[in-house]
Amino acid sequence: MVNLIDAVQPNVIKTQLSDIYGFSEQLAQIPDLVSLTIGEPDFPTPEHVKKAGMAAIAADESHYTATWGRIGTRTAAANYLKQRYDVDYDPATQVVITNGVTEAMYATLATFVGKGDEVLLPTPAFPVYDSLVELNGGKLVEIDTQPDEFLLTPERLRATLQEHPHAKVLIVNFPSNPTGRSYSADQIQALADVIAETNLVVVSDEIYSELTYTGRHVSLAKYLPDQTILFNGLSKSHAMTGWRIGVAAGPAPVMTEIAKVRELMSTSVMTAAQVAAEEAFGNGMDDAAPMRAEYERRRDYVYNEFTRLGFACEKPQGAFYLFAKIPERFHLNSAAFCQDVAKTVKVGMIPGSSFGAGGEGYVRISYATSMSNLEEAIRRLQIYSDEH
Ligand SMILES: Cc1ncc(COP(=O)(O)O)c(C=O)c1O
Repeated sequence: MVNLIDAVQPNVIKTQLSDIYGFSEQLAQIPDLVSLTIGEPDFPTPEHVKKAGMAAIAADESHYTATWGRIGTRTAAANYLKQRYDVDYDPATQVVITNGVTEAMYATLATFVGKGDEVLLPTPAFPVYDSLVELNGGKLVEIDTQPDEFLLTPERLRATLQEHPHAKVLIVNFPSNPTGRSYSADQIQALADVIAETNLVVVSDEIYSELTYTGRHVSLAKYLPDQTILFNGLSKSHAMTGWRIGVAAGPAPVMTEIAKVRELMSTSVMTAAQVAAEEAFGNGMDDAAPMRAEYERRRDYVYNEFTRLGFACEKPQGAFYLFAKIPERFHLNSAAFCQDVAKTVKVGMIPGSSFGAGGEGYVRISYATSMSNLEEAIRRLQIYSDEH
């Protein structure tokens, strides 16, 4: 009898899906769990954006759009990127609207990564990147940022390039999932200076840019517009994860190639969602501000409390995650520690090992949940701590 599994491509078989979702689902079975695992905003989509989406449905905006996205949405996205981050993109030739940054990632890595191509990835990192490199037959080169307070330094990038002179792509993500770390203008400029001496394609995932607590986010694309594919979107800034709106922007000739791949994936992005996105980019420039203020309050709380409980951590500068070091006295690796805490005191956290080599020994805490949940989690972790 034919066994179709034998026909599946080896790259697909090798590709591991992130254990984050599996682990979160497993934890969800535990009654009365306080979950700090969720990587999405706990706020509703802004009212004016919802209204625009509903009006678009009522007006029968229900057909395919240009595969790059509606020109109105692309123009609004380009204006938004210009106003917020001072980067210049021509909406006609340099901006593609995608089904979330996830689709932008897929299309971009499929465009650049072939068999044996080396891709540099500072870790700990969002696990989708690792899987996409695998799927395309590329070779992942992890750069462990743990010794550098979870930032990619120019020195470490230089050293990695000496060992991997033929590396083709560098992926960066800041503010970072899972560490919440980000770069100052000087740090970005210093990294850009090193990258500019190379032929690297830079993929810069800046989806958390609006959730920056240290002043204005500075985009890598500002310094390296000709060498960067910039990703941004509305999932985190406007609490719109389910609307699936991402933006990819970069030099015109390569955006044409990326748009080809994207077209093959899904033709276009849901039309009403694009209309809502135009409203969000156009008239929702400040929508993130109140959410950012609340996240910042929670960040201060979890950072102070985890530090007090003996979990060393770098203060997050953005996103809504804290990456905390498991105290030695618990004698458990990150997966075992998260299992034990979930079972005994019913607090859900993600093991740092889910984010690559630089993550072992740590846990990721999401503070995209209410203050009362965070307080309850700390109360339970205090009990765990007292018992060990
Ligand atoms: C770093 C990072 N990039 C991309 C995504 C996916 O974003 P989207 O909802 O736009 O597909 C996430 C979601 O958690 C993320 O953390």
